[in-house]
Amino acid sequence: MAQQDDVFKKIVSHAKEYGFVFQSSEIYDGLSAVYDYGQNGVELKNNIKRYWWEAMTLLHENIVGIDSAIFMHPTIWKASGHVDAFNDPLIDNRDSKKRYRADVLIEEEIAKIDDKIEKEVAKARKRFGDSFDEALFRETNPRVAEHRATRDALHERFSRAMNENNLEELRQIIIDREIVCPISGTRNWTDVRQFNLMFKTEMGSTADGAMTVYLRPETAQGIFVNYLNVQKTGRMRLPFGIAQIGKAFRNEIVARQFIFRMREFEQMEMQFFVRPGEELKWFNQWKEWRLNWHKALGLGDDKYRYHDHEKLAHYANAATDIEFQMPFGFKEVEGIHSRTNFDLSQHEKYSGKNIKYFDPELNESYVPYVIETSIGVDRMFLSVLCSSYEEQKLDGGDTRVVLHLPAALAPVKCAVMPLVKKDGLPDKAREIVNDLKFDFATRYDEKDSIGKRYRRQDSIGTPFCITVDHQTLEDDTVTLRERDSMEQTRVPVSKLHELIHSKVSLNSLLRKLS
Ligand code: GAP
Repeated sequence: MAQQDDVFKKIVSHAKEYGFVFQSSEIYDGLSAVYDYGQNGVELKNNIKRYWWEAMTLLHENIVGIDSAIFMHPTIWKASGHVDAFNDPLIDNRDSKKRYRADVLIEEEIAKIDDKIEKEVAKARKRFGDSFDEALFRETNPRVAEHRATRDALHERFSRAMNENNLEELRQIIIDREIVCPISGTRNWTDVRQFNLMFKTEMGSTADGAMTVYLRPETAQGIFVNYLNVQKTGRMRLPFGIAQIGKAFRNEIVARQFIFRMREFEQMEMQFFVRPGEELKWFNQWKEWRLNWHKALGLGDDKYRYHDHEKLAHYANAATDIEFQMPFGFKEVEGIHSRTNFDLSQHEKYSGKNIKYFDPELNESYVPYVIETSIGVDRMFLSVLCSSYEEQKLDGGDTRVVLHLPAALAPVKCAVMPLVKKDGLPDKAREIVNDLKFDFATRYDEKDSIGKRYRRQDSIGTPFCITVDHQTLEDDTVTLRERDSMEQTRVPVSKLHELIHSKVSLNSLLRKLS
């Protein structure tokens, strides 16, 4: 774990050093859980968004996009349940004066018991070698059984307390398990209180009677309140989907792990409107499609898993997370929810407007059911960054840091480098840049030795480096260096476009999905 923490720290500092992610307001000592994307970060982020947007709107003829405003009528958040129920249970430690999420403290306690089980298994694996039957050991070992019983009992008690919104019981679990504050090391806890996560602000001058508005905590509500506008103006028939990418804001209490949990972040959400009764079929379909979208990136199929929710929100009849193996464990990157007709029915009730869909095939009107896919851009960015980062030992004792980014997502696709800064090589290199730049993000680099320049491009994940040397002037060929294998091949300049395109285009990624 300590080793993984180290890797994560390195990834965070690499992200800063190479212009991917900066702490917001850094020269003023930063703003907690708010980040800015730098020159390479914004390109990677835009490519992730393009991959999602095109997978949704180009590959599905029944999905269209919108871009709704961040500010919305405050009653929307009353209707959606966010004003009354979008809360985190908080607890303070009186000695350190630090505030924690009570549910997170308990989840971490459960994770510690899981770790104990895994340690027993790892020890036994080492002891028994090839003859080790892991399944049998997990089933029959008394220490594993004891830990599992403790874990299951704790998990059940915790789930019940959360479901019943029983704040006293959450505190009691923390006391009973003797959970201490990581800072003060004491158990001097306050009561647990609910804390609403929405940011509020005022719209209009006070003289006119200012209205309290919220910064949206999810983009989904902008889709719900526009669904009939889109359906009517686009003459859409069920099933159909509306996709949206945009900022969301949550006043997170426990904001940690870099861009994993932020106060200002971006979501890519799609609401798929279906006939009542067909929602579970579509839920399963979207589970599969979304996992395929992730896997097509080639980050490693074993890095994903589903986490089906046992505890369902009152309006959902199925929910799952797609989790990704981050350096700090498997974590949610995307949620897929069958939200029934809850949101639309609530908006119908609170707005007093009829927002039923008329189904021409059934000749009846009803409120559609909704399957939602909701993914955080920043978490997706983090998963791509973490799984791409490698400190690679090279023959000869050197080390290089390389980002094995999926080529279609890389901020820069190719860098063109004259071997030396004379003899007309820079002019030839510029000529190549001026041709490639219309189709690919292309950089020109002539500073430092060629080896250093390769390393610089490896560090930001550039799939190809093109080197112009004296032979180029004679036969119009260059060396094309591939990032991961570091192999260099001599290719005609006229072939560059085709070669690069075949590897870096988003099309080839999208084709894997259809
Ligand atoms: N409309 C449904 C919804 O918002 P959610 O599970 O609360 O569901 C969906 O959020 C996704 O948004 C998460 O899977 C995660 O990727 C991202 N997300 C949520 N809170 C976040 C935060 N504080 N920082 C970064 N990403 C976040």
